[in-house]
Amino acid sequence: MKNPKRVVAHEAVDRYVEDGMVLGLGTGTTAYWVVRRVGELLAAGELRGVRGIPTSERTVALAKEFGVPLLTLSEARPDLTLDGADEVSRGLDVLKGWGGALLREKIVAASSRDGLVIVVEDSKLVESVGKGPVPVEVEPFGWEATLNALASLGCDATLRTDDSDPRRPFVTDGGHYTVDCLFDAIPEPDALQTQMKRIPGAIETGLFLGIARAAVVGQADGVEIFAI
Ligand code: A5P
Repeated sequence: MKNPKRVVAHEAVDRYVEDGMVLGLGTGTTAYWVVRRVGELLAAGELRGVRGIPTSERTVALAKEFGVPLLTLSEARPDLTLDGADEVSRGLDVLKGWGGALLREKIVAASSRDGLVIVVEDSKLVESVGKGPVPVEVEPFGWEATLNALASLGCDATLRTDDSDPRRPFVTDGGHYTVDCLFDAIPEPDALQTQMKRIPGAIETGLFLGIARAAVVGQADGVEIFAI
């Protein structure tokens, strides 16, 4: 049986990645297949001169494993970023960060000339973002105060813990903590984003609004493209 993440990642790479591109490389189990596909096409000579800008240390390791040369944002601006997502609406509001890399993902995506293309299975489609928690990357100093301020916006706010040791906070590549904020619903994602960013310890949120320009969505019978 075909792996659906592999199928949709191949479609996205084959459709959007061109010779010579500087490509923002996302993080997660779908981004894994994107990085692997780019590496395979480079090795086969079917793509030439593509270099990646990684969004996490995990993706750095994958790019090395699959032979994708890397650059940093100090050296180049990405032409385009391909990344997975946790929730996507048909209007291309996107929720990310359940995998723990949202800050670097947002910096790379937002700096990409042609924006962000999301690569997902249709299980990630939602009417509007916020079915699950909105992750917020927070400064460790005074994290309790930041968590309380986030909770006062009307959510159930919890500090994310490390998978391998639940007594410890999960720490991002940038050395930050993550607070997961579960709302009953998010009627106005833009307004929520603004309110969250006003909290001093809240560094960035997993609401990616106005950043994605297309989504490649894998379905049982093929792939659909949503674009704006
Ligand atoms: C990482 O921080 C996340 O934003 C991921 O991009 C997101 O969780 C999607 O991951 P999967 O492709 O593994 O579902």
